[in-house]
Amino acid sequence: MTIERPAARPANPRFSSGPCAKPPTFELNKLAGAALGRSHRAAVGKDKLKAAIEGTRELLGIPADYRIGIVPASDTGAVEMALWSLLGERKVDMLAWESFGAGWVTDVVKQLKIDAEVKTADYGQIVDLASIDFNNDVVFTWNGTTSGVRVPNGDWIADDRAGLTICDATSAAFAMDLPWDKLDVTTFSWQKVLGGEAAHGMLILSPRAVERLESYTPAWPLPKIFRLTKGGKLIEGIFQGATINTPSMLAVEDYLFALDWARSVGGLQGLIARADANAQAIFEFCDQNDWIDNLAEDPSTRSNTSVCLKFTDPRIRDGASFAKAVAKRLEAENVALDIGAYRDAPAGLRIWCGGTVETSDIQAMLPWLKWAFEAEIAAQAEAA
Ligand SMILES: Cc1ncc(COP(=O)(O)O)c(C=O)c1O
Repeated sequence: MTIERPAARPANPRFSSGPCAKPPTFELNKLAGAALGRSHRAAVGKDKLKAAIEGTRELLGIPADYRIGIVPASDTGAVEMALWSLLGERKVDMLAWESFGAGWVTDVVKQLKIDAEVKTADYGQIVDLASIDFNNDVVFTWNGTTSGVRVPNGDWIADDRAGLTICDATSAAFAMDLPWDKLDVTTFSWQKVLGGEAAHGMLILSPRAVERLESYTPAWPLPKIFRLTKGGKLIEGIFQGATINTPSMLAVEDYLFALDWARSVGGLQGLIARADANAQAIFEFCDQNDWIDNLAEDPSTRSNTSVCLKFTDPRIRDGASFAKAVAKRLEAENVALDIGAYRDAPAGLRIWCGGTVETSDIQAMLPWLKWAFEAEIAAQAEAA
Protein backbone atom coordinates (compact mmCIF):
# COMPACT_ATOMS: atom_id res chain seq x y z
CA MET A 1 0.00 0.00 0.00
CA THR A 2 1.40 3.41 -0.95
CA ILE A 3 0.57 6.34 1.27
CA GLU A 4 0.52 9.59 -0.61
CA ARG A 5 3.20 12.14 0.22
CA PRO A 6 2.08 15.67 1.14
CA ALA A 7 2.50 18.22 -1.63
CA ALA A 8 4.45 20.92 0.24
CA ARG A 9 7.79 20.68 2.05
CA PRO A 10 9.25 22.90 4.76
CA ALA A 11 11.65 25.46 3.30
CA ASN A 12 14.05 24.61 6.13
CA PRO A 13 13.92 21.04 7.53
CA ARG A 14 16.24 21.79 10.47
CA PHE A 15 14.46 21.03 13.75
CA SER A 16 17.46 19.92 15.83
CA SER A 17 17.46 20.73 19.55
CA GLY A 18 21.07 21.85 19.42
CA PRO A 19 22.87 23.14 17.56
CA CYS A 20 19.56 24.71 16.56
CA ALA A 21 18.54 26.24 13.23
CA LYS A 22 20.39 29.44 12.36
CA PRO A 23 18.28 32.62 12.14
CA PRO A 24 16.31 32.57 8.86
CA THR A 25 18.34 35.49 7.45
CA PHE A 26 21.69 33.82 8.15
CA GLU A 27 24.34 33.51 5.45
CA LEU A 28 28.01 32.78 6.07
CA ASN A 29 29.08 35.99 4.34
CA LYS A 30 27.25 38.00 7.00
CA LEU A 31 30.14 37.10 9.33
CA ALA A 32 32.69 38.80 7.08
CA GLY A 33 33.22 41.54 9.66
CA ALA A 34 34.61 39.08 12.26
CA ALA A 35 37.84 40.09 13.96
CA LEU A 36 39.70 37.11 12.55
CA GLY A 37 43.46 36.86 12.94
CA ARG A 38 43.39 39.61 15.54
CA SER A 39 44.01 39.41 19.25
CA HIS A 40 40.83 39.15 21.26
CA ARG A 41 42.57 41.52 23.70
CA ALA A 42 42.97 44.21 21.00
CA ALA A 43 40.33 46.95 21.04
CA VAL A 44 38.46 45.48 18.07
CA GLY A 45 38.11 42.09 19.78
CA LYS A 46 37.31 43.46 23.21
CA ASP A 47 34.65 45.74 21.75
CA LYS A 48 32.92 42.80 20.09
CA LEU A 49 33.05 40.71 23.28
CA LYS A 50 31.63 43.64 25.21
CA ALA A 51 28.88 44.11 22.61
CA ALA A 52 27.98 40.42 23.02
CA ILE A 53 27.67 40.91 26.77
CA GLU A 54 25.71 44.16 26.61
CA GLY A 55 23.49 42.90 23.77
CA THR A 56 22.62 39.91 25.95
CA ARG A 57 21.79 42.23 28.85
CA GLU A 58 19.60 44.47 26.68
CA LEU A 59 17.67 41.67 24.97
CA LEU A 60 17.14 39.52 28.05
CA GLY A 61 16.42 42.49 30.35
CA ILE A 62 19.18 41.51 32.77
CA PRO A 63 19.56 44.03 35.64
CA ALA A 64 22.53 46.40 35.47
CA ASP A 65 24.03 45.01 38.68
CA TYR A 66 24.18 41.42 37.38
CA ARG A 67 27.51 40.26 35.87
CA ILE A 68 27.46 38.55 32.47
CA GLY A 69 30.52 36.56 31.42
CA ILE A 70 31.53 34.69 28.29
CA VAL A 71 33.16 31.47 29.47
CA PRO A 72 34.67 28.34 27.90
CA ALA A 73 32.97 25.04 27.09
CA SER A 74 29.44 26.07 26.12
CA ASP A 75 26.61 25.68 28.61
CA THR A 76 28.29 22.73 30.33
CA GLY A 77 31.33 24.89 31.05
CA ALA A 78 29.20 27.67 32.50
CA VAL A 79 27.17 25.31 34.72
CA GLU A 80 30.20 23.40 35.98
CA MET A 81 32.13 26.61 36.72
CA ALA A 82 29.22 27.66 38.90
CA LEU A 83 28.88 24.30 40.66
CA TRP A 84 32.60 24.00 41.37
CA SER A 85 33.02 27.65 42.42
CA LEU A 86 29.92 28.21 44.54
CA LEU A 87 28.70 24.96 46.06
CA GLY A 88 29.78 23.40 49.33
CA GLU A 89 29.10 26.41 51.54
CA ARG A 90 25.75 24.85 52.54
CA LYS A 91 23.52 21.93 51.65
CA VAL A 92 22.08 21.80 48.16
CA ASP A 93 18.73 20.73 46.70
CA MET A 94 19.37 19.12 43.32
CA LEU A 95 16.33 18.99 41.03
CA ALA A 96 16.24 16.77 37.96
CA TRP A 97 13.53 15.53 35.62
CA GLU A 98 15.58 14.55 32.59
CA SER A 99 19.12 13.72 31.61
CA PHE A 100 20.86 17.13 31.74
CA GLY A 101 19.53 17.81 35.24
CA ALA A 102 20.61 14.27 36.12
CA GLY A 103 24.10 15.10 34.84
CA TRP A 104 24.35 18.00 37.30
CA VAL A 105 23.26 15.63 40.10
CA THR A 106 26.13 13.31 39.17
CA ASP A 107 28.56 16.25 39.28
CA VAL A 108 27.44 17.30 42.73
CA VAL A 109 26.88 13.93 44.38
CA LYS A 110 29.55 11.73 42.80
CA GLN A 111 32.30 14.21 41.88
CA LEU A 112 32.03 17.04 44.41
CA LYS A 113 30.50 14.74 47.05
CA ILE A 114 28.41 17.55 48.53
CA ASP A 115 25.61 16.97 51.04
CA ALA A 116 22.64 17.03 48.66
CA GLU A 117 18.90 16.52 48.76
CA VAL A 118 18.21 14.96 45.37
CA LYS A 119 14.69 15.42 43.98
CA THR A 120 13.91 13.68 40.73
CA ALA A 121 10.90 13.01 38.52
CA ASP A 122 10.41 10.69 35.56
CA TYR A 123 10.47 11.93 31.97
CA GLY A 124 7.24 13.82 31.33
CA GLN A 125 6.81 14.88 34.95
CA ILE A 126 8.34 17.53 37.19
CA VAL A 127 9.49 17.46 40.81
CA ASP A 128 7.28 18.86 43.57
CA LEU A 129 8.34 22.51 43.41
CA ALA A 130 6.58 23.23 46.73
CA SER A 131 9.01 20.90 48.52
CA ILE A 132 12.21 22.86 47.87
CA ASP A 133 14.21 24.16 50.84
CA PHE A 134 15.53 27.61 49.94
CA ASN A 135 17.83 27.66 52.96
CA ASN A 136 19.85 25.34 50.75
CA ASP A 137 21.39 26.18 47.42
CA VAL A 138 19.11 24.95 44.64
CA VAL A 139 20.30 23.65 41.26
CA PHE A 140 17.76 23.11 38.48
CA THR A 141 17.20 23.21 34.73
CA TRP A 142 14.60 25.77 33.58
CA ASN A 143 13.68 23.73 30.51
CA GLY A 144 14.53 20.04 30.45
CA THR A 145 15.60 19.75 26.83
CA THR A 146 15.35 15.96 26.69
CA SER A 147 11.85 15.64 28.20
CA GLY A 148 10.27 18.88 27.02
CA VAL A 149 9.26 19.70 30.60
CA ARG A 150 9.90 23.20 31.95
CA VAL A 151 9.13 24.98 35.18
CA PRO A 152 5.86 26.90 34.64
CA ASN A 153 7.33 30.15 36.07
CA GLY A 154 9.52 31.35 38.94
CA ASP A 155 6.76 31.82 41.53
CA TRP A 156 7.94 28.76 43.49
CA ILE A 157 11.35 30.36 44.16
CA ALA A 158 11.48 32.14 47.55
CA ASP A 159 12.26 35.85 47.46
CA ASP A 160 13.87 35.69 50.89
CA ARG A 161 16.03 32.62 50.13
CA ALA A 162 19.23 32.13 52.10
CA GLY A 163 20.75 29.79 49.51
CA LEU A 164 21.54 30.55 45.89
CA THR A 165 19.54 29.40 42.87
CA ILE A 166 21.68 28.00 40.06
CA CYS A 167 19.68 27.63 36.86
CA ASP A 168 20.68 25.91 33.64
CA ALA A 169 18.55 27.95 31.24
CA THR A 170 20.22 26.93 28.01
CA SER A 171 17.05 25.88 26.19
CA ALA A 172 14.96 28.60 27.86
CA ALA A 173 16.92 31.85 27.44
CA PHE A 174 15.46 33.88 24.53
CA ALA A 175 12.27 31.77 24.49
CA MET A 176 10.83 32.07 27.99
CA ASP A 177 10.55 34.87 30.53
CA LEU A 178 13.28 34.46 33.14
CA PRO A 179 12.64 36.32 36.43
CA TRP A 180 16.10 37.67 37.18
CA ASP A 181 15.31 38.51 40.81
CA LYS A 182 14.75 34.77 41.40
CA LEU A 183 17.94 33.60 39.67
CA ASP A 184 21.39 33.94 41.24
CA VAL A 185 23.27 32.03 38.58
CA THR A 186 21.91 31.52 35.08
CA THR A 187 23.66 29.82 32.19
CA PHE A 188 23.07 29.25 28.51
CA SER A 189 24.89 28.55 25.27
CA TRP A 190 24.75 30.48 22.00
CA GLN A 191 24.03 27.25 20.10
CA LYS A 192 20.48 26.93 21.42
CA VAL A 193 17.58 29.37 21.00
CA LEU A 194 19.47 31.95 18.93
CA GLY A 195 20.94 29.33 16.61
CA GLY A 196 24.47 30.49 17.35
CA GLU A 197 27.60 28.40 17.61
CA ALA A 198 28.65 26.21 20.54
CA ALA A 199 32.06 26.64 22.23
CA HIS A 200 31.15 29.45 24.60
CA GLY A 201 28.82 29.58 27.56
CA MET A 202 27.15 32.57 29.18
CA LEU A 203 27.41 32.85 32.95
CA ILE A 204 25.09 35.38 34.59
CA LEU A 205 25.63 36.19 38.26
CA SER A 206 23.42 38.09 40.69
CA PRO A 207 25.02 40.33 43.32
CA ARG A 208 24.35 37.55 45.88
CA ALA A 209 26.27 35.05 43.76
CA VAL A 210 29.20 37.48 43.59
CA GLU A 211 29.03 37.91 47.35
CA ARG A 212 29.31 34.13 47.76
CA LEU A 213 32.27 33.99 45.38
CA GLU A 214 34.07 36.66 47.35
CA SER A 215 33.30 35.26 50.80
CA TYR A 216 33.67 31.51 50.31
CA THR A 217 36.53 29.37 49.03
CA PRO A 218 35.70 25.78 48.10
CA ALA A 219 37.70 23.00 49.74
CA TRP A 220 38.69 21.53 46.36
CA PRO A 221 41.20 22.87 43.84
CA LEU A 222 39.90 24.81 40.83
CA PRO A 223 41.56 24.68 37.41
CA LYS A 224 42.36 28.05 35.82
CA ILE A 225 39.46 27.58 33.40
CA PHE A 226 36.98 27.66 36.35
CA ARG A 227 38.57 30.44 38.40
CA LEU A 228 36.33 33.50 38.80
CA THR A 229 38.18 35.17 41.68
CA LYS A 230 41.70 36.26 42.46
CA GLY A 231 42.81 37.05 45.99
CA GLY A 232 39.21 36.75 47.20
CA LYS A 233 37.89 39.33 44.70
CA LEU A 234 35.83 38.72 41.58
CA ILE A 235 37.88 38.97 38.39
CA GLU A 236 35.75 41.78 36.95
CA GLY A 237 37.47 41.66 33.56
CA ILE A 238 35.79 38.32 32.74
CA PHE A 239 32.46 40.19 32.85
CA GLN A 240 33.69 42.99 30.62
CA GLY A 241 34.94 40.85 27.77
CA ALA A 242 38.42 39.92 29.02
CA THR A 243 37.77 36.20 28.68
CA ILE A 244 39.68 33.61 30.75
CA ASN A 245 41.23 32.13 27.62
CA THR A 246 41.00 32.64 23.87
CA PRO A 247 37.48 32.76 22.44
CA SER A 248 36.45 32.12 18.84
CA MET A 249 35.95 35.53 17.27
CA LEU A 250 34.01 33.82 14.47
CA ALA A 251 31.55 32.43 17.04
CA VAL A 252 31.37 35.90 18.63
CA GLU A 253 30.54 37.50 15.27
CA ASP A 254 27.89 34.86 14.70
CA TYR A 255 26.35 35.62 18.11
CA LEU A 256 26.34 39.36 17.37
CA PHE A 257 24.53 38.59 14.10
CA ALA A 258 21.98 36.46 16.01
CA LEU A 259 21.41 39.27 18.53
CA ASP A 260 20.77 41.70 15.68
CA TRP A 261 18.32 39.28 14.12
CA ALA A 262 16.60 38.88 17.51
CA ARG A 263 16.13 42.68 17.67
CA SER A 264 14.63 42.60 14.17
CA VAL A 265 11.86 40.20 15.22
CA GLY A 266 10.84 42.23 18.26
CA GLY A 267 13.45 41.24 20.83
CA LEU A 268 12.63 38.88 23.66
CA GLN A 269 8.85 39.19 23.38
CA GLY A 270 9.06 38.61 19.63
CA LEU A 271 11.18 35.51 20.17
CA ILE A 272 8.82 34.16 22.84
CA ALA A 273 5.85 34.71 20.51
CA ARG A 274 7.62 32.84 17.70
CA ALA A 275 8.44 29.86 19.96
CA ASP A 276 4.89 29.85 21.37
CA ALA A 277 3.38 29.82 17.86
CA ASN A 278 5.65 26.95 16.79
CA ALA A 279 4.85 24.87 19.87
CA GLN A 280 1.14 25.67 19.58
CA ALA A 281 1.06 24.27 16.04
CA ILE A 282 2.41 20.97 17.40
CA PHE A 283 0.09 20.96 20.43
CA GLU A 284 -2.87 21.37 18.06
CA PHE A 285 -1.56 18.56 15.87
CA CYS A 286 -1.46 16.31 18.98
CA ASP A 287 -5.04 17.30 19.83
CA GLN A 288 -6.17 16.39 16.31
CA ASN A 289 -4.38 13.03 16.12
CA ASP A 290 -5.02 10.31 18.68
CA TRP A 291 -1.79 8.42 17.91
CA ILE A 292 0.60 11.05 19.22
CA ASP A 293 0.87 13.00 22.45
CA ASN A 294 3.09 15.43 24.31
CA LEU A 295 5.54 13.68 26.66
CA ALA A 296 5.01 16.49 29.21
CA GLU A 297 1.91 15.49 31.14
CA ASP A 298 0.92 18.79 32.77
CA PRO A 299 0.13 21.43 30.10
CA SER A 300 1.58 24.18 32.33
CA THR A 301 5.00 22.47 32.13
CA ARG A 302 5.03 21.97 28.35
CA SER A 303 8.11 23.39 26.69
CA ASN A 304 7.80 25.87 23.84
CA THR A 305 11.32 25.00 22.62
CA SER A 306 12.12 21.29 22.92
CA VAL A 307 8.71 19.77 22.28
CA CYS A 308 8.92 16.04 23.03
CA LEU A 309 6.34 13.66 21.60
CA LYS A 310 5.40 10.04 22.19
CA PHE A 311 3.48 7.65 19.94
CA THR A 312 0.42 6.23 21.66
CA ASP A 313 -1.09 3.98 18.96
CA PRO A 314 -1.80 0.51 20.42
CA ARG A 315 -0.83 -1.09 17.10
CA ILE A 316 2.82 -0.13 17.63
CA ARG A 317 4.77 -3.23 18.62
CA ASP A 318 8.25 -1.88 19.40
CA GLY A 319 8.08 1.78 20.42
CA ALA A 320 11.80 2.52 20.12
CA SER A 321 12.30 1.06 16.65
CA PHE A 322 9.01 2.58 15.45
CA ALA A 323 10.01 6.10 16.51
CA LYS A 324 13.45 5.68 14.96
CA ALA A 325 11.93 4.47 11.71
CA VAL A 326 9.56 7.47 11.55
CA ALA A 327 12.45 9.88 12.15
CA LYS A 328 14.49 8.08 9.49
CA ARG A 329 11.71 8.39 6.91
CA LEU A 330 11.42 12.13 7.59
CA GLU A 331 15.16 12.58 7.32
CA ALA A 332 15.31 10.59 4.08
CA GLU A 333 12.65 12.89 2.61
CA ASN A 334 14.64 15.90 3.86
CA VAL A 335 11.55 17.29 5.61
CA ALA A 336 12.71 16.98 9.26
CA LEU A 337 16.31 16.51 10.35
CA ASP A 338 17.51 15.38 13.79
CA ILE A 339 14.12 14.91 15.44
CA GLY A 340 14.67 11.54 17.14
CA ALA A 341 14.25 11.63 20.94
CA TYR A 342 17.43 12.12 22.99
CA ARG A 343 19.35 8.88 23.51
CA ASP A 344 18.45 8.54 27.23
CA ALA A 345 14.83 9.73 26.86
CA PRO A 346 11.73 7.58 26.24
CA ALA A 347 11.14 6.55 22.62
CA GLY A 348 9.61 9.30 20.52
CA LEU A 349 10.41 12.52 18.72
CA ARG A 350 11.70 15.93 19.76
CA ILE A 351 10.96 18.93 17.57
CA TRP A 352 12.74 22.20 18.23
CA CYS A 353 10.40 25.18 18.31
CA GLY A 354 12.74 28.03 19.32
CA GLY A 355 12.39 31.37 17.56
CA THR A 356 14.80 30.67 14.69
CA VAL A 357 12.34 28.06 13.41
CA GLU A 358 9.61 29.43 11.14
CA THR A 359 6.03 28.46 12.02
CA SER A 360 5.37 27.88 8.32
CA ASP A 361 8.07 25.19 8.38
CA ILE A 362 6.51 23.45 11.39
CA GLN A 363 3.13 23.61 9.63
CA ALA A 364 4.59 22.19 6.42
CA MET A 365 6.38 19.40 8.31
CA LEU A 366 3.41 18.12 10.35
CA PRO A 367 1.52 16.51 7.42
CA TRP A 368 4.77 14.68 6.67
CA LEU A 369 4.84 13.39 10.25
CA LYS A 370 1.37 12.00 9.69
CA TRP A 371 2.53 10.50 6.40
CA ALA A 372 5.60 8.88 8.03
CA PHE A 373 3.48 7.52 10.88
CA GLU A 374 0.98 5.92 8.49
CA ALA A 375 3.72 4.58 6.24
CA GLU A 376 5.43 2.98 9.21
CA ILE A 377 2.22 1.45 10.55
CA ALA A 378 1.66 -0.04 7.09
CA ALA A 379 5.27 -1.30 6.91
CA GLN A 380 4.91 -2.89 10.33
CA ALA A 381 1.70 -4.66 9.23
CA GLU A 382 3.37 -5.90 6.04
CA ALA A 383 6.34 -7.25 7.99
CA ALA A 384 4.08 -9.16 10.40
C1 LIG B 1 19.47 21.59 29.51
C2 LIG B 1 20.81 21.42 28.89
N1 LIG B 1 21.90 21.57 29.65
C3 LIG B 1 23.13 21.43 29.12
C4 LIG B 1 23.32 21.13 27.80
C5 LIG B 1 24.70 21.00 27.26
O1 LIG B 1 24.95 22.09 26.48
P1 LIG B 1 26.35 22.35 25.75
O2 LIG B 1 26.57 21.18 24.85
O3 LIG B 1 26.10 23.62 25.04
O4 LIG B 1 27.38 22.43 26.81
C6 LIG B 1 22.21 20.99 26.96
C7 LIG B 1 22.38 20.64 25.54
O5 LIG B 1 21.49 20.22 24.85
C8 LIG B 1 20.94 21.12 27.53
O6 LIG B 1 19.86 20.99 26.76
